[in-house]
Amino acid sequence: MIVKKAEFVISAVKPAQYPDDALPEFALAGRSNVGKSSLINCLVRRKNLARTSSKPGKTQTINFYRVNDLLYFADVPGYGFARVPKSVRAAWGKMMETYLTGRETLKAVIQVVDVRHPPTSDDQNMYHFLKHYKIPVIVVATKADKISKGKWQKHVKVTREGLQMVKGDPLVLFSAETSYGKDDLWGEIESRIGV
Ligand code: GTP
Ligand code: MG
Repeated sequence: MIVKKAEFVISAVKPAQYPDDALPEFALAGRSNVGKSSLINCLVRRKNLARTSSKPGKTQTINFYRVNDLLYFADVPGYGFARVPKSVRAAWGKMMETYLTGRETLKAVIQVVDVRHPPTSDDQNMYHFLKHYKIPVIVVATKADKISKGKWQKHVKVTREGLQMVKGDPLVLFSAETSYGKDDLWGEIESRIGV
């Protein structure tokens, strides 16, 4: 995909605020601080379109980005961040569930995990949640630049097994730092919107 235009559209907390122009949409899900916003920036080649932070919990609303007037990325709050009050976490969970189960234009969830570590129980729950609701999923194992190439395949295997991934589901090894895997991921996205 040659990105000619990438724009922030809206931060939403409820369905009435979601964009309603019916373009296909891809949501980023993953642990807080795993690199979801960085992944969006890498895909659209803009350093700071989606806000990133070294502190977890940066993204707290569902942020919609429109690319080439063709598709949306929805950057959703990360899960598994322990240092937020339970009540706040419950509200996030509800917002996510409403979004993921009700968004008609959602083509797939890009579930981002850290390739350095085995999936956490939160990662497992998210994957199984998506399977349960029959929401297509593209798993992205990111921060590949943080481990040596020789270890990549072993870590990819641990990720696949840890999530108990279904055989046909794609896993893309990725790095927002080096853009490794970017073309593969765009390929997965494009194949789902017929371009
Ligand atoms: P929340 O919005 O808090 O859920 O976090 P997020 O998942 O959007 O993470 P974000 O993109 O803000 O990145 C978190 C930190 O990880 C930042 O310091 C990024 O620079 C770093 N990071 C993200 N992707 C990569 C990567 O592929 N490689 C390396 N080395 N660092 C990365
Ligand atoms: Mg973020």
